[in-house]
Formats: sequence, structure tokens, C-alpha cells
Amino acid sequence: MKLKGQTAIITGAASGIGAECAVRLAKEGANIVLIDLNPCVKTIDCIQSENADAKVLECLGDIRDPEFVKAAVARASDSFGELHILVNNAGTCGRLGIDRMTLDIWDRDMDTNVKAAFLFIQSVVYPHMVDQQYGRIINISSISGMNGGVTSGDGVNGRSGPAYAASKGAVIALTKWVAKELGAAGITCNSVAPGATETGITSGVPYDVSPQAIKRMGTPADIAEAVLYFALPESGYTTGQVLKVDGGYSFG
Ligand SMILES: NC(=O)c1ccc[n+]([C@@H]2O[C@H](COP(=O)([O-])OP(=O)(O)OC[C@H]3O[C@@H](n4cnc5c(N)ncnc54)[C@H](O)[C@@H]3O)[C@@H](O)[C@H]2O)c1
Repeated sequence: MKLKGQTAIITGAASGIGAECAVRLAKEGANIVLIDLNPCVKTIDCIQSENADAKVLECLGDIRDPEFVKAAVARASDSFGELHILVNNAGTCGRLGIDRMTLDIWDRDMDTNVKAAFLFIQSVVYPHMVDQQYGRIINISSISGMNGGVTSGDGVNGRSGPAYAASKGAVIALTKWVAKELGAAGITCNSVAPGATETGITSGVPYDVSPQAIKRMGTPADIAEAVLYFALPESGYTTGQVLKVDGGYSFG
């Protein structure tokens, strides 16, 4: 149990990649703070079946709301004391092409994917991680944030829309900025960039895995293992990095 006594906050923990990260970190002994719009009942069940002693706090609300973020971090600190690990995972993905993109979808994706990550980093870093001179921040980006995503070719629906690609590119830049700023305080900030992964976000969307070296979609467990590496004390000399977990879709 490499994370015994540590506390991890994970956003978007009710399903998919966030749920798997919560289970994986709990298996290593971390106390887990689950954040989501939706109840995390299934995640809690899975955590308890992996580690019956795991301590779990569920905070339900909208991570785009700065007051919710502050209150959730305060509850986490009241419950567990020091906060060691932050996984900014919650995300939304509008798929409309640029001609049909609405401002509502643009704002939703930018606010969920980037603004909320900033809000959590701000609320966790200065009152907690800097005081402790220790922290691990992991931001879930996407290969769309590196290559611009996959458009449809017909201008209507892409596999990832323009706001999604732009927001994930911003997550990567934010990761590097935070890494530079906080390295001297013992805090690392890295990003995991998944490729096509089987979750609610990809359900019903066709993905061609033939260009990948590994010819299957990823699983949330594939992503959670990469997150675990960045969450460990042992990864303390790695910061500002983006680890693609995409089955060998892209190189370089
Ligand atoms: N699945 C993929 O192929 C893939 C690929 C690249 C990146 N990602 C990224 O991985 C992350 C997790 O996505 P997933 O695939 O597990 O999808 P998912 O839809 O299963 O999980 C996203 C979770 O975020 C929560 N959420 C969304 N908006 C929220 C808000 N405003 N406040 C609180 N919670 C909110 C949802 O309720 C949901 O539980 C996202 O950032 C996504 O962009 C996924």
C-alpha cells in the first residue's frame, strides 16, 4: 500500500476513468474524496470491495462553480487533514463541428475541462500542498489536446469538437505552467493524455483502432495505472510531462 495515510481528490469520480482512478488509488491505501455531479455509489462499492478499510468522502456538485470547489476542498481537509493528490479528471466533450458549435457547449467544455482544473489547483495548492511542501497534481488531458482531435470531414459531428480540443490543449499548457511554478515546493504536476478509451463519453461513437499499434480501445484501468505512477512519492523527479496512453496511436 504505497499511498497509505495520503488523501486524493478525484473529480469526475462517478464513472469511467475517474471511478477507476479512485479505486486504484484506494487499493494503494489512499483516503479518497470523490467529486461529481452524479452520485458515486458504484465507485464506493468498488472501492470497498478492493479495500474494506478505505476512507471515502463524496462531494456532489458542479465543479464549474468556484464556491462548490472551495467548499468541497474544505470538506476534504476537515475530514482528512492534509491533501496530497489531486486528479483533475472530470470532462465533457461536445462533438459538433465549428459551424454548429454553440456558445453554451463551448463554455461548458472550456469551464469543465480547464477552468475547474484551475479552480481545484488554486484551492488545493496554496492552503495545503505548499504548506506541506508536497503534492501530486495529475490533469487528465487527451491526445485531442495534442493533435487537434478528429473532425468528421463533413463539418457536422467530429469525434472531438473544437472546444474539446482547445480545452485539452489548455490543460496541457496549464500542467506545464503549474509544474514550473511549484517544483521548488515539492509539488509535481503532470498530465495523462488518453486515446480512445471505453467509457460513457465514447459510448455509441465509432472508433477505428486500426491505425494504433495496439489494436483495441483503452480501458479505464489502462489510464488509472498511468495516473497512479504520477501520484506516487517515487515519481517526484518527473514534472510537467504529458504521458500518452493511446495504444500507440501517435508517436513523438
Ligand atoms: N474516454 C475517452 O476516450 C477519453 C479520451 C481522452 C480523454 N478523456 C478524458 O478523460 C476524462 C474522464 O472522462 P471519461 O471518459 O471517464 O468520461 P465519463 O463521462 O465516464 O466521466 C466523466 C465524469 O465527469 C463528471 N462531470 C462532468 N461534468 C461535471 C461537472 N461540471 N461537475 C462535476 N462532475 C462532472 C460526469 O458526471 C462523469 O461522471 C475526461 O476529462 C475526458 O475528457 C477521455
